[in-house]
Amino acid sequence: MNYWGPNLARNFARLDGSSLSWCCDLDEAVLDRHRSAYPATGFTTRMDDLLEDPGTDAVVIATSVPTHAALAKRALEAGKHVFVEKPLALRAADAREVAAIAQDRGLICMVDHLLVYHPGLQKVKQIIDDGLLGEVFYLYGNRQNLGIVRADENALWSLGPHDISVMLWLVGERPTEVSASGESYLQNGVEDVVFGRIRFPSGVLGHLHLSWLDPHKMRKMTVIGRDKMVVFDDMETERKVTLYDKGPVPRTETYGEYIQVRSGDIHIPKVPGVEPLKVVCQEFTQAVRTGTPPLADGRAGTVVVEVLEAMTESLRSAGAPIALTSPEDAR
Ligand SMILES: NC(=O)c1ccc[n+]([C@@H]2O[C@H](COP(=O)([O-])OP(=O)(O)OC[C@H]3O[C@@H](n4cnc5c(N)ncnc54)[C@H](O)[C@@H]3O)[C@@H](O)[C@H]2O)c1
Repeated sequence: MNYWGPNLARNFARLDGSSLSWCCDLDEAVLDRHRSAYPATGFTTRMDDLLEDPGTDAVVIATSVPTHAALAKRALEAGKHVFVEKPLALRAADAREVAAIAQDRGLICMVDHLLVYHPGLQKVKQIIDDGLLGEVFYLYGNRQNLGIVRADENALWSLGPHDISVMLWLVGERPTEVSASGESYLQNGVEDVVFGRIRFPSGVLGHLHLSWLDPHKMRKMTVIGRDKMVVFDDMETERKVTLYDKGPVPRTETYGEYIQVRSGDIHIPKVPGVEPLKVVCQEFTQAVRTGTPPLADGRAGTVVVEVLEAMTESLRSAGAPIALTSPEDAR
């Protein structure tokens, strides 16, 4: 309930079909800041109060990342549905275990990969799936800022889950290989800037630039297709998505050695101005009510952690490519 948790509390408290029965934090001072906003809600430092309450169906976990998997397991083992902040876990094995417990017990496990619920990125996904870009060649994400410098996680783990979850969903394939390189300028051993690469089986290449040491505040995803190109820019208010009718034209004898470039209309589709976190909270509530797994379920959250883990291995091995194998591949 410190920095991000209050955003979740606000959304779940306001949503039709859900009520905020408890707020839990180990720190009483943090809880004290929110008591007056939710007079009908119980405030506690004991997670067991939530788990032992038969009237509580689901637990939302927005604690520090190293605690995610253990707290999610406790909640699931107590029979509660869980919503877990990104990333689902620090290790792929733990993420798999959380997802498996949820599946075995018929409970919902959702990860807050909120950008896959962003109306702008939903539009980008629709543009790709409708074939407007033609064959997708590559995509890249920019997540830069002179922003919060975290000591307990690097730029890859703090910022990367957003772009990785979006790329996996947009491409719709399980990556085969990743690599990453980065540098720690401000704190020893904590990378402030990371460049990541994701290779998909169809040949699509994804690239990430993640940094909290940068003059630009950028929240962008660019997808390049054979026929058109699309840009999602979350820093824009009116122009979240721009579709460029630009691309190379196949070489013709008439123009000798030149490859022509076609530059046509620029289209700005309308994108509804909805808070993505509200959509995320609605999807979780709906999933709990209907039993239908959400888009960002435990399985999707696990693949994101697998990519993060393999990129970390690459970071520690001077950017060497790391094959992404799943436990199924190893059998
Ligand atoms: N989806 C997003 O865009 C987004 C943005 C920011 C943060 N986050 C995520 O939200 C989570 C929290 O981030 P933050 O910046 O709010 O961190 P924070 O350190 O400000 O707050 C974490 C809070 O959790 C409490 N806590 C830790 N262990 C606990 C436990 N076992 N039981 C109860 N409370 C416990 C701490 O006392 C603290 O108040 C992280 O997972 C982070 O990745 C997501």
